[in-house]
Amino acid sequence: MKVAFVASEGVPFSKTGGLADVVGSLPKALAALGHEVEVILPRYRSTPKGSSVPHAQSLTLPLGLGYKFAAVQDAGRAHQVQTYLIDCPEYFDRDGLYQQKGEDYPDNAHRFAAFSLAALELLKHGATPPDIIHCHDWQTALVPVYLRNLYQEDRYFGKTSVLFTVHNLGYQGLFLPHLLPQISLHAGLFTVEALEYYGMVNLLKGGIIFSDFITTVSRKYAEEIQTAEFGYGLEGVLHSRASHLQGIVNGVDYEAWDPATDKLLAANYTPVNLKGKEACKQDLLEKMGARTPLLHRPVIGIVSRFASQKGFDLIATIAEQLAALDLYVVALGTGEPAHEELFRTMAAKYPDKFLVKIAYDNALAHQIEAGSDMFLMPSRYEPCGLNQIYSLKYGSVPVVRATGGLDDTIEPFDGKSGTGFKFQEYSPQALLATIHAALEAYATPKTWQRLVQNGMKKDFSWTTSAKVYSRIYETLLKAKA
Ligand code: ADP
Ligand code: GLC
Repeated sequence: MKVAFVASEGVPFSKTGGLADVVGSLPKALAALGHEVEVILPRYRSTPKGSSVPHAQSLTLPLGLGYKFAAVQDAGRAHQVQTYLIDCPEYFDRDGLYQQKGEDYPDNAHRFAAFSLAALELLKHGATPPDIIHCHDWQTALVPVYLRNLYQEDRYFGKTSVLFTVHNLGYQGLFLPHLLPQISLHAGLFTVEALEYYGMVNLLKGGIIFSDFITTVSRKYAEEIQTAEFGYGLEGVLHSRASHLQGIVNGVDYEAWDPATDKLLAANYTPVNLKGKEACKQDLLEKMGARTPLLHRPVIGIVSRFASQKGFDLIATIAEQLAALDLYVVALGTGEPAHEELFRTMAAKYPDKFLVKIAYDNALAHQIEAGSDMFLMPSRYEPCGLNQIYSLKYGSVPVVRATGGLDDTIEPFDGKSGTGFKFQEYSPQALLATIHAALEAYATPKTWQRLVQNGMKKDFSWTTSAKVYSRIYETLLKAKA
């Protein structure tokens, strides 16, 4: 099948979070199954320039009453996957992907409307239409909306189906109603059956309604988002589409995330020879400025977007109690000022306990996975979560809240089997009790080693999940035929 991924970020071209990891790795796994896969991404300021594409040097995008123009760059072919970059400097040649200084760009709707139109126009320049367009999150939710409205009569896409993957329901793309004509959509779409949502235009809702099939990134999250607690007001819409909604857990790319081969580490290691992990711990503590690294102390790692979703209010409540324990907290992240402040304050107050870097730093993210003994993800909700899966591979034992993908991927340790520690209730007490349970296991080296090895032996490569996507594509193809 011919499959086109349309997404707002993808490794190695752009990244703010796990979406980029998925867009950088799932296409490879699909190509390995024999599909012809291309990926279409925006070209941001930070994205390396590609070469020009003769057949798509200038795309004309009918945006509102006027036109915008975009060029296309060929970013090359790797692992049988072809990547194209939409080059529209007016919208994408900026420092951030979605935000500047913590504020969303005011023209985000126009930016991603233009991108979605450009992706469709680029596909129209192809030799044959795609069988499947696979879109991701609100930024590309307009692709199915355009396809079933603006392009409804376009016979080129007559047999094309759209699969829409929701990576995070917490970001919906909400805009004022007067947006619609500005992005070439008729006002008739402002109804509760289409894009209207409590008086606003909701792009994610459009994606859910106008796509042929919807997936999300873990089995549990697919259930959770059909409830009021996790549905962010879209639970009804999602429930109405339940027969076309499936949770498929993310895989990971072990070419990039494997301590046996990871070039960003001070030393490499495997489940049978863990010596290198000790060297990574020493290296991490030195890098983070620990005055005299105490290797007997457990290191609790955190690598995260600093967003409320991730449970930082729980960490804030127990921060003083953590500081009183014989351990290190090593944290890397950026995001909401209050969470940045929490870690800055703790690091200033307890410089030999809290080692903190407020930044986006890919190499350090790998080094924390390797140098930590435990990895903390007390998320309020977590569609899938990739860091806990990386942690398993790096022998950094996950301590997680049992929600979404965290619940699906971490099995509680019972002294013999299991891979981590989880708690149900979203409370600081439950988090602290679970950290204590982990520390208790850590105190017995033999038990701990077993737990570490259990996790390292788990296989979350894409093979299984890519096959599930492939089967859905086939069902969609048959339905169109
Ligand atoms: P989310 O997509 O919600 O942010 P995931 O766990 O799915 O959560 O993915 C997060 C990805 O982003 C991981 O690859 C993680 O290493 C990376 N990441 C998050 N914050 C940082 C940071 N400050 N520096 C480097 N990488 C980061
Ligand atoms: C989102 C979610 C995260 C998920 C990632 C990739 O950013 O917050 O849980 O792992 O997308 O699907």
